[in-house]
Amino acid sequence: MGFSKDFIWGAATASYQIEGAYNEDGKGLNVWDAYASDRDYVKFRENGNVACDHYHRFKDDIALMKEIGIKAYRFSVSWTRIFPEGIGKINEKGIKFYSDLVDELIKNDIIPMITLYHWDYPLALHYKGGWTNPDSSEWFLEYTKAVVDALSDRVSYWMTLNEPQVDIGCGRQDGVHAPFEKRNARDLLIMGRNVLLSHGKAADYIRNNAKIKAKIGYAPIGPCMLPKDESPVAIEEARKKTFSGGGDRFPYSLSYWSDPIFLGKYPDDVLERFGDLVPEFTAEEWKLVTTPLDFYGMNIYNANAGEQQGEYSDIYFQGKMATNIGWPVTPDVLYWSSRFMYDRYKTPIIITENGMASHDWVCVDGKVHDSYRIDYLTRYLRGYKRAADEGIPLIGYIQWSLMDNYEWSQGYTQRFGMIYVDYPTQKRTIKDSGYWYRNVIETNGEEL
Ligand code: FCB
Repeated sequence: MGFSKDFIWGAATASYQIEGAYNEDGKGLNVWDAYASDRDYVKFRENGNVACDHYHRFKDDIALMKEIGIKAYRFSVSWTRIFPEGIGKINEKGIKFYSDLVDELIKNDIIPMITLYHWDYPLALHYKGGWTNPDSSEWFLEYTKAVVDALSDRVSYWMTLNEPQVDIGCGRQDGVHAPFEKRNARDLLIMGRNVLLSHGKAADYIRNNAKIKAKIGYAPIGPCMLPKDESPVAIEEARKKTFSGGGDRFPYSLSYWSDPIFLGKYPDDVLERFGDLVPEFTAEEWKLVTTPLDFYGMNIYNANAGEQQGEYSDIYFQGKMATNIGWPVTPDVLYWSSRFMYDRYKTPIIITENGMASHDWVCVDGKVHDSYRIDYLTRYLRGYKRAADEGIPLIGYIQWSLMDNYEWSQGYTQRFGMIYVDYPTQKRTIKDSGYWYRNVIETNGEEL
């Protein structure tokens, strides 16, 4: 059976990781601009001030997308390019940048897919309490309106949030991503509420106001436990662990975010653990939070080891197959996560991110021979194809990343791209995996 005829093969990036031009054309500061080079949060105190300079080179980058043959490009909008202060007066130059980007994509037959928020939270709003502020979902709605009103005449694919798990977990619980905070459970639950409501208000606005028919989703991480074998008992055990509310680590769990959105309730184990600390939604707010979505996005790099995470386990052990960033290689995860998510949330799936960091450089022949990336992608896509073969509705596969870029707390040490970026010169080189991907796209995955 394989992938459907209209399957969407794409590539993804995010604003802070590639754009640079951090203070040009009226852009305001976000929390990454403000804190990336502050103290030793990020390797070598690197920041995204220049990054891939995509802001100035987007046309060349789209020409490379065209050469690879990708059908869709997932990118995020930088909130403070649109509203330098997070809310208030729109910066028309910011709108123009994304409008030009969308036009250029369409001119090249590439479907634009917009993520509204990929972690670059406005600094001015952070000073007002950020996601803890009761007005924060209204701020997000104001921002959403500006983007949707300007671009929804040409854009149909929308993702509200990228990985709220990492935004809140890494950024506000563990303090390893901007704004590098360590907040208590009470604050985190308030943030969770406001993030969920922001998602809901945005989804509802897009649904009712987009000028062309919108396809709406969001892009959570898909932590997934693999069954030990394919017996029903092992599968149910893995499923149960996959949807655990995560105890004190609830911001990282999947069900904490996706159950409210798709099932209209917080997971029981979260309610049992935190009781009255879990802020409720009114009936009207629940209606917004549960706005029906068109696709379930999943950013997946590897399976999780559940409670054993970080310890010696079936997945984490010395000498494991691992990528350059240390994440284990677990190809079956695209199959199991598609199956588990579809069974529970009954929504067609898009892998909104998947890919690997490898130790790439330009070889003496002028090419980048990233054979391990090709191997990794082949294995993972075979897992995904099994899901397609079993009839799970899969809309697309978006590889992370189009090009090497700023990898958050890892600075520029991790190369995830199918295009190599030489940062000092900004020269781009399509890697072997980019040409390999071109063939995968042309053959719709049939030769995997
Ligand atoms: C995901 C992020 C993305 C990138 C990849 C490697 O968690 O969404 O921005 O950093 O990991």
